Amino acid sequence: MRGTAAYRREMVRVITRRALRAIAEGRERADWPENPAMLWGPNHAHVTKPLPMMVHHEDDAAETIVTTVNGKVYSVQNAAHKTLLRMLRENIGLTGTKEGCAEGECGACTVLLDGAAVMACMVPAPRAHGAEIVTVEGLAQNGALHPIQQAFIEEGAVQCGYCTPGFLMSGASLLAEHPDPTPEQIRQSITGNLCRCTGYYTIVRAIEQAARRKNPAG
Ligand code: FES
Ligand code: FES
Repeated sequence: MRGTAAYRREMVRVITRRALRAIAEGRERADWPENPAMLWGPNHAHVTKPLPMMVHHEDDAAETIVTTVNGKVYSVQNAAHKTLLRMLRENIGLTGTKEGCAEGECGACTVLLDGAAVMACMVPAPRAHGAEIVTVEGLAQNGALHPIQQAFIEEGAVQCGYCTPGFLMSGASLLAEHPDPTPEQIRQSITGNLCRCTGYYTIVRAIEQAARRKNPAG
């Protein structure tokens, strides 16, 4: 993505050629994991509830977005032209969800939308209309940290902390989907999250520890 146009053009040629060869030889599924971590929630990221009205994603769109965030219903004005990330931070005041790259690369803005992990910087705010969102502020329940939050603290998986909300949301989503994840599923679950300072070993250990807490017999 950061390469020159010439490099990317060459890569398109190479990758397309490899893909066509794999299809011709019937190998296209050979490296697929059997039960991958998808983080797509119980509805497999499909919209299941019909909406009573549409909200447009336009600069002058005046429609109200009605959404549930961490169990509380919000009616939000003047956000239809924004991303979900900006609406959460600027209109609802939940600043736990971070903006790292604002272009879908770093995962710092990960939230759950109807159960599916999404990068909020890539989601138009109107998509939240009629949806249920969970942000990092909604992970703790009744004053008790989510097991993944506790494990991040105990394993020292937080340094500057900027990436941490995104990792926590991906990790929590993984544990909901795979309560006893394999090492491969743990690594898959955080492929969309970048950390520039802690490194990944402590983060992987924290997710393993959280899984053990949630599933002591596993
Ligand atoms: S801020 Fe959304 S992916 Fe980086
Ligand atoms: S803890 Fe600093 S970027 Fe991850």
